[in-house]
Amino acid sequence: ITLYVPRDAAALSMGADKVAAMLRIEADRRGVDVRIVRNGSHGMLWLEPLVEVATPLGRMAYGPVTPDDVAGLFDAGFLEGMAHPLCHGLTLEIPYLKNQERLTFARCGIVDPVSVEDYRNHGGFAGLERALTMTSAEIIAEVTESGLRGRGGAGFPTGIKWKTVGDAVADEKFICCNADEGDSGTFADRMIMEGDPFILVEGMTIAAIAVGAKQGYIYIRSEYPHAVATMREAIRLAYQQKWLGHGIHGSTHSFDLEVRVGAGAYICGEETSMLESLEGKRGTVRAKPPLPALEGLFGKPTVVNNVLSLTSVPVILARGAKYYKDFGVGRSRGTQPFQLGGNIRHGGIVEKAFGITLHELLYNFGGGSASGRPIRAVQVGGPLGAYLPPEHFDTPKDYEAFAAREAMVGHGGIVVFDDTVDMAHQARFAMEFCAAESCGKCTPCRIGAVRGVEIMDRILAGTAPADKQLTLLEDLCEVMADGSLCAMGGLTPMPVRSAIKHFPEDFHRPAAAIAAE
Ligand code: NAI
Ligand code: SF4
Repeated sequence: ITLYVPRDAAALSMGADKVAAMLRIEADRRGVDVRIVRNGSHGMLWLEPLVEVATPLGRMAYGPVTPDDVAGLFDAGFLEGMAHPLCHGLTLEIPYLKNQERLTFARCGIVDPVSVEDYRNHGGFAGLERALTMTSAEIIAEVTESGLRGRGGAGFPTGIKWKTVGDAVADEKFICCNADEGDSGTFADRMIMEGDPFILVEGMTIAAIAVGAKQGYIYIRSEYPHAVATMREAIRLAYQQKWLGHGIHGSTHSFDLEVRVGAGAYICGEETSMLESLEGKRGTVRAKPPLPALEGLFGKPTVVNNVLSLTSVPVILARGAKYYKDFGVGRSRGTQPFQLGGNIRHGGIVEKAFGITLHELLYNFGGGSASGRPIRAVQVGGPLGAYLPPEHFDTPKDYEAFAAREAMVGHGGIVVFDDTVDMAHQARFAMEFCAAESCGKCTPCRIGAVRGVEIMDRILAGTAPADKQLTLLEDLCEVMADGSLCAMGGLTPMPVRSAIKHFPEDFHRPAAAIAAE
């Protein structure tokens, strides 16, 4: 009998290791022969640790399981898939999963993350096998045709970026994967690296063949030790089985891949800071141009792509550009693994085609707020993204539709707040975050963020007329948005302005009204 207990960091934080140990003890005590596979998470985080039992009908799901539940599960006959208060039926029939369109996360939670055989048995390396039969130009054309845009947040067409690197003439080129997932409320990069690491190895190898690179780096934030360990193990196995190194899968192609660990700076998720850090320097932003595509790592043409961009590539090569392009709306093609977090009942990963509305994500999947109170605001796209009120929950997930509402899809994170949130405090937090994480290279961000915190403190304390302070704050936002060197200072005004625009009542404190009189 095979049992599945996730090794994903979210499941571990809820005691998955203890549950796995207790399942082993209880099985041994009862003399039952069980095999425990440590899989990735399916992304239904409120059910973690989710224990699954393989039955002839499919895997049955039980969760959230604590070590104290284990004996009772055995007594109830869960090894035969019998009913129990923690039973949710067949995993793949749980509506949260069943109603998704999983292309990137198709294997996550299903396979043993560190088994090449399991990966192969579930369609893994089919994209790379096809890429090995194609020319560089054909691979790039396929990725361009699919409509894939950078999933790190900026949405730049991946095929065009690859073409720039492919066309560049140089003795050396690099593929750098940005796994410095620093946005608050985002965890998709981590979950795919922990649950299906070979897909990233495959995507990066395809990118390398497409542009003529021989060396790749995965830059993972230090806060993700489990992802680091899983990726390193996957890379070791891929070398062993000739999916990396010299003569990939019997071809003449070579590609070497290494993991590099960051040191805890948000700004190292900005691509040029990441390159500085990879070169062993302090992570400060470089001016662009030159683009990394032309002068990137060690001054050589470099593809810098986010984990989710690179892990979208294998399915595009395996099933064709048209298959991928058929998902989505407008210029936002394919799917995005959206991440529901904050005050939400059913937090987790929801991979859907672009076009799904915020409302559907929050209520059909998320089940409303965790507190049971009305949802008042959501921040979409990380700490630099806009706060949206319920009137905008009809916005479809689409880069252009979000931009039209002065918001951004970003990396797909959605953080939920109920009606107890104070939006003036959230605006202050945006400035405080920028002040803490600024690399210090340019003045609008380095000094502006500090001044922004001071203005917000005056508004919060009600010690100066709010209208004057808000005018000053808007001036400051304009300078930061127009004058900053990178998105850190340039986008910090987005959460601030959206909070003021959609929730003006929170910025007029009672004391301020008195002071104004
Ligand atoms: P950007 O718009 O400057 O560039 C996007 C990408 O396209 C870069 O890789 C750039 O080098 C490339 N590019 C631009 N023009 C090109 C050309 N002509 N040829 C080839 N490549 C070209 O945006 P940036 O500053 O890289 O990213 C900002 C975004 O990052 C924000 O919108 C935000 O959503 C996101 N972000 C994501 C975080 C995360 O944790 N995933 C954290 C913070 C921000
Ligand atoms: Fe550095 Fe901020 Fe300027 Fe970006 S905007 S270069 S983080 S100081």
